[in-house]
Amino acid sequence: MDEKLQSINLQKVPNHIAIIMDGNGRWAKSKGMQRVFGHKNALTAIRAAADTSSELGVKFLTLYAFSTENWNRPKFEVDALMTLLVKTLKKELPEFQNKNVKVNAIGAIEQLPKKAQKTLTEVIEATKNNTKITLTFALSYGAREEIVNAIKNISKKVVNNKLDIEKIDEKIINNHLYTFNLPDVDFMIRTSGEQRISNFLLWQMAYAELYFTDVLWPDFRKEHLFDAIIDYQNRERRFGKTSEQIETDE
Ligand code: FPP
Repeated sequence: MDEKLQSINLQKVPNHIAIIMDGNGRWAKSKGMQRVFGHKNALTAIRAAADTSSELGVKFLTLYAFSTENWNRPKFEVDALMTLLVKTLKKELPEFQNKNVKVNAIGAIEQLPKKAQKTLTEVIEATKNNTKITLTFALSYGAREEIVNAIKNISKKVVNNKLDIEKIDEKIINNHLYTFNLPDVDFMIRTSGEQRISNFLLWQMAYAELYFTDVLWPDFRKEHLFDAIIDYQNRERRFGKTSEQIETDE
């Protein structure tokens, strides 16, 4: 483990990591258990990812906890996920404070059960001045819906003469997304072997490096994040430039 840590260049860790935490259901099934058992065991992995990211100096960690499509799951599972969310946020609040974690949420939060909205608002408010890492939960989140909302809100401003159509640029669009206060994603990790983006942060991942691992989310630990970051650091991010230009920039 120490060897892995030593292979990481702490000056070049991704600033913003986004994770699609996939495979909870399969993990539970492989143990002859119900899917919800997998979601419960996902919490250890969430803690490991958040603690390790923070220790390495990652400033933003965004977790896909519940997609707009997840509402279509059996009611029992949706209810269990919402209960788990509320319990976890309440239980972890002292840890968020101890570890200087700022909690944030993106998505159609108004569609969550009232209790989840209330707890989320309280935890966000209580941690708003924390500065070590911003931990964002994507909840009832869909990237296409996010973009549709942004277009609607920008259009309203244009119609009401609050915004000149020629002034619409990438920055204006950024400012109308749920992620208006977050930087672009540098590195996206998806567990469980699936190689898809599944409507997650489509705009924000335009230049992100993508990493897929077969590890099922409840098994994801510190060493897996180390492996992922070592892989990220062996890549060359060119943002459309040539290798030579990148070398000169450095
Ligand atoms: C994907 O596994 C996981 C989810 C859809 C839910 C993620 C939820 C958590 C990690 C826990 C609750 C969140 C918080 C913030 C406390 P899957 O169920 O799609 O697994 P499968 O692909 O193997 O069926």
